[in-house]
Amino acid sequence: MNRKLGTNGPLVSAIGLGCMGMSGAYGQSDDAASIATIERALDLGHNFLDTADYYRTGHNEELISQAIKGKRDKAFLSVKTGLFLAPGPNKSMAVGPVNTHPDYIRNAVLYSLQRLKTDYIDLYTPARVDPNVPIEDTVGALSDLVQKGVIRYIGLSEAAAATIRKAAAVHPITSLQIEYSLWSRDIEAEVLPTIRELGIGLVAYSPLSRGLLSGEIRTPEDLKDNRIHMPRFQGENFLKNLELVEKIKTLATEKGCTPSQLAIAWVLAQGEDIITIPGTKRIKYLEENIASENVQLSREDLQSIEAIMPAGIVSGTRYPEMFMNHLNR
Ligand SMILES: NC(=O)c1ccc[n+]([C@@H]2O[C@H](COP(=O)([O-])OP(=O)(O)OC[C@H]3O[C@@H](n4cnc5c(N)ncnc54)[C@H](OP(=O)(O)O)[C@@H]3O)[C@@H](O)[C@H]2O)c1
Repeated sequence: MNRKLGTNGPLVSAIGLGCMGMSGAYGQSDDAASIATIERALDLGHNFLDTADYYRTGHNEELISQAIKGKRDKAFLSVKTGLFLAPGPNKSMAVGPVNTHPDYIRNAVLYSLQRLKTDYIDLYTPARVDPNVPIEDTVGALSDLVQKGVIRYIGLSEAAAATIRKAAAVHPITSLQIEYSLWSRDIEAEVLPTIRELGIGLVAYSPLSRGLLSGEIRTPEDLKDNRIHMPRFQGENFLKNLELVEKIKTLATEKGCTPSQLAIAWVLAQGEDIITIPGTKRIKYLEENIASENVQLSREDLQSIEAIMPAGIVSGTRYPEMFMNHLNR
């Protein structure tokens, strides 16, 4: 299933592939298995591949370059930039300063092209709003890159409504990438109506709340990566959230699908202007997630999900405080 990304944007797969976990975000990864997963996505016609130049400093883009070799035209490359991630103590990730200064962007994009072994990027997105650089300057630099044919479309990520409006006044914005799932619904109040008004598509990331909604993480001991530092995966929050997962499992069983499929189908059911990018490094999960397209949620289904799982029911913020400070709220 394809959907139009934004009113005047390209047609892309409604279920894309988030590649972040292939570079160590969620435990160990295996490059060969990751490349095979990307290839499988393309073979199945799911072209939207999401990456960032800061996913293990280019490692993720290099994996993608291997998977798209000889079939660049089959892929829609969504690349984020402007954020710095580094390994911290005890499996944590430290987030560094945001930099979306025009000079930085112009330099970063050249390295991304080199690592991806391509001469254009389909969708280029500053990952965060830089508090020190007017968004108009960042989008101005991106607009120049569009004129030069280096990038095709401009995205934003984790931007507030007022920022989105300022950005869209400089150049058409194709998409907003932001966390959106059964458990992350803050955008419904202001951001979602704003992008709908402006004809900007939504790229919903972490539709499985970083794997928790899948029901595969059953005990705190199942977690051995960066997620141990995330509030939803900690202490009382984690135990309460695992109870919610049981309710999702029941709903999924009633619908004849898996919990992941229910969570992904819910996101897609929120509007034709939404695509989602579940992340995985395994063909098995990729195929399961893609099959969510076949899960049809009726109005009654959505109402009963809402009754059992209303907005705000989850325990814990979606990021640790340090990361929350980098969001444009
Ligand atoms: N713009 C931003 O700031 C931002 C932030 C975060 C993420 N993103 C993008 O969004 C993408 C998706 O987000 P995400 O990876 O955080 O979240 P997600 O899709 O909510 O969760 C990914 C986790 O769920 C697991 N999983 C996936 N499908 C599964 C299934 N069918 N059954 C059981 N477990 C399953 C994965 O396992 P395996 O890893 O073992 O396959 C991984 O641990 C990322 O890859 C990245 O491209 C963007």
